[in-house]
Amino acid sequence: MTTPLIDPFARPISYLRVSVTDRCDFRCVYCMAENMTFLPKKELLTLEELDRISSTFIRLGVEKLRITGGEPLVRKGIMTYFQAMRRHLDSGALKELTVTTNGSQLRRYARELADCGVRRINVSLDTLDDKKFADITRWGRLAQVLDGIEAAQEAGLRVKINAVALKGFNEDELFTLQDWCATRGMDLTFIEVMPMGDLGNEDRLDQYWSLKDLRARLAERFSLTDLAERTGGPARYVRLEETGQKIGFITPMTHNFCESCNRVRLTCTGELYMCLGQEDMADLRAPLRADPDNALLEQAIRDAILRKPKGHDFDYSRQQVDGQVSRHMSHTGG
Ligand code: GTP
Ligand code: 5AD
Ligand code: SF4
Repeated sequence: MTTPLIDPFARPISYLRVSVTDRCDFRCVYCMAENMTFLPKKELLTLEELDRISSTFIRLGVEKLRITGGEPLVRKGIMTYFQAMRRHLDSGALKELTVTTNGSQLRRYARELADCGVRRINVSLDTLDDKKFADITRWGRLAQVLDGIEAAQEAGLRVKINAVALKGFNEDELFTLQDWCATRGMDLTFIEVMPMGDLGNEDRLDQYWSLKDLRARLAERFSLTDLAERTGGPARYVRLEETGQKIGFITPMTHNFCESCNRVRLTCTGELYMCLGQEDMADLRAPLRADPDNALLEQAIRDAILRKPKGHDFDYSRQQVDGQVSRHMSHTGG
């Protein structure tokens, strides 16, 4: 029997987020710089190597895989990887295979994702206004994403929308987003903006909209019932009694959820980040390439889990940005 992965704070690690590319067809302002230098393709783990690492984690007890990027669906040949992961769903070792996407490629891939055993996906969408969408993504086309979401629903995928809550940007769209999702049978999760990437401090503070405020605004219009259920991620959910819809809150700033953290993150070059909000990482690519039997890889994973920190240090409460991480969010896929 394999010993499961347990970190120094007694948290079992059952969730691996796999970033399959650092590239993206958008440049969301809170995620990437306008001019990004992307990695040369030869630096990337091959699809076979991604399979070997993911499969090793699954053998060590990981039950949930979320594929991220950059934008995961712009990685060439990525469906081969999804098809390969299907065997772990079929064997019962993997409980959930899912993806976080910007939605731009869903018209092309939604059906294939469903065929690979993906049941629900998260789509990032902060606004329903064409002009604002083009601004926040720097050049994205809203219509393409909305069409992708439609394709996902046609393919039978459950869609959850992720919106980063941004002061002065989508505050006025709270009820528009909520109503749009309710009409289409989609859950909606709001995320507090985190201080990552090369930001000017004041910018991120100015953009920060606390989900305490957002929740209070929702409560003016709806009766909210707190739900105990979780989806294995950091979101806490309420049900709006009037619509039956679930609204999630991801609150790294106002309510730190690190004590129940169950996840680690693999980058497309084989670095393992034990926490989104810390710089420490372990290289898995060298042990992977040094030993075809995966014994060195397994040992490197176990050693890395023993280094998992207690949590992030993000903090805006002193009216300044503390605990900032200079790595771009796109590097580890959120
Ligand atoms: P569900 O499976 O639907 O629960 O999804 P999830 O919340 O696990 O994944 P998703 O990709 O939708 O995550 C949404 C965002 O939440 C991420 O992009 C991050 O911004 C944030 N987030 C997820 N996990 C963590 C975490 O461990 N720490 C912090 N600080 N933020 C996280
Ligand atoms: N703070 C919070 N969420 C972020 N995301 C990207 N950058 C940030 C940030 N600085 C979110 C995106 C997407 C997910 C991959 O990460 O909106 O939903
Ligand atoms: Fe691309 Fe997602 Fe980052 Fe936007 S948040 S730039 S869509 S990876």
